[in-house]
Amino acid sequence: MKGNRGVQTLVFGVLLTAVIAVRGVAAVDQRGPSADPVKGKEIFAAQKCSLCHTVGASGGKLGPDLSAVGTRRNAEWLKVYLPKPQTFDPKNKMPPVQAKGQDLSDLIAYLTSLKGKTRDTAR
Ligand code: HEC
Repeated sequence: MKGNRGVQTLVFGVLLTAVIAVRGVAAVDQRGPSADPVKGKEIFAAQKCSLCHTVGASGGKLGPDLSAVGTRRNAEWLKVYLPKPQTFDPKNKMPPVQAKGQDLSDLIAYLTSLKGKTRDTAR
């Protein structure tokens, strides 16, 4: 049945294309479709990040001001950095972030949304 084989090949080709397309989209948006910056802000507060980091007008000064961290760092970088801040510099004093999975994705969505003025540039 020559015709049948042609149809099979066509169906297989279409399926393969669909799978590649879906995987391509997933690879581009690594935060996933449901990363929530509002929840991420709550996690930022709960994990005491502001002991060392300033966002907007308040927070600690031990670490860099994160008010505009979204203009410097992207989700891919943060995904590597936050669980192990010593990845790029073994002397980094920042403690590893405990948030995992969805919490970490939400936290990253919050951080990448921070594109505001720093305390220094706000004046
Ligand atoms: C004990 C203090 C401390 C705490 C708590 C802390 N950090 Fe940090 N963080 C630092 C320091 C210090 C650096 C800078 C390290 C360096 O580059 O040498 C840093 C760097 C960063 C950076 C990189 C900023 C940049 O532009 O390079 C991000 C993002 C970050 N912290 C996010 C967080 C988040 C999110 C939390 C809470 C889950 C957190 N930090 C908790 C001290 C802290």
